[in-house]
Amino acid sequence: MPDLPTLGEILKKSEEFLVRKSIDNPKGDARRLLAHGLGIAPMQVLLQFDRPLTNPEVATLRTLVLRRSQNEPLQHILGTVGFRHLEIRCDARALVPRSVTESIVDEVLARLKGIPKALVHEVGVGTGCIALSLRHERADLRVTGSDISSDALALARHNAQILGLWVPLFQADLLDGMKAQTLDLVVSNPPYIPTKDLAGLSAEVRADPSLALDGGEDGLVCFRKLVNQSFQALKSGGWLLAEHGFDQGAATRSLCDTGWAEIVTIKDLSGQDRFLAVRKA
Ligand SMILES: C[S@@+](CC[C@H](N)C(=O)[O-])C[C@H]1O[C@@H](n2cnc3c(N)ncnc32)[C@H](O)[C@@H]1O
Repeated sequence: MPDLPTLGEILKKSEEFLVRKSIDNPKGDARRLLAHGLGIAPMQVLLQFDRPLTNPEVATLRTLVLRRSQNEPLQHILGTVGFRHLEIRCDARALVPRSVTESIVDEVLARLKGIPKALVHEVGVGTGCIALSLRHERADLRVTGSDISSDALALARHNAQILGLWVPLFQADLLDGMKAQTLDLVVSNPPYIPTKDLAGLSAEVRADPSLALDGGEDGLVCFRKLVNQSFQALKSGGWLLAEHGFDQGAATRSLCDTGWAEIVTIKDLSGQDRFLAVRKA
């Protein structure tokens, strides 16, 4: 009977295969996939190099690596992604939460300091990562969320349920139907990629629903409506915080005309323009 392959050997073959298929981060992805398939921590893959693998284990790992080689996003294969302090379930029903988005939660929390039980609404919850993080990190906040996509809402509700976080979620087109002058803060990461740029995105990004990406002709179709509707929905002194593309800082500031105060663009951790913060006067 031939020797069983070791974990170290399968790791090397997997890395080489992902390199040949031009997958970004082949080493890191191979390690995460093997760890996932064997039910061990990624660090254990390096510590168990000499572990012999059974034929069923090798078959499982081969399937995972093959899926990644065909450009299926790593997070869809793993089924979860870390977002701040939460493990968020993700799949093709909603945008995979991005690490660049995490700091919008800090920006929201900073603006709600000293406002107990503030009313916060997230437009376009996707997996629910922002709304659920807010509720997790400030239990007194009254957080609600909405999305136009019933698929995204089903996933966000599932995340809320397994994380044990109570956030009412409902289907709506942006802030249609929201009562005037009721909210302390609106937060959103709306779709903001110009339609003409979608075809040029990587296969992994194109695995996200187009509803989550497509911002219309100039990328700001949703954003423009969001700014106008937020003005109606916010109490005076309330905030709108919204993510945008690295090159949309000036364009998003220019959408805020009279009635808004403290119109600023906040940079992300890599120093690029990323979030609009505006306060209703
Ligand atoms: C870029 S994703 C953000 C998802 C999540 N908040 C995050 O940051 O990972 C944009 C979300 O907005 C939703 N969306 C798109 N158009 C919308 C609309 N008109 N009204 C409400 N939600 C919308 C999409 O379904 C998607 O879930």
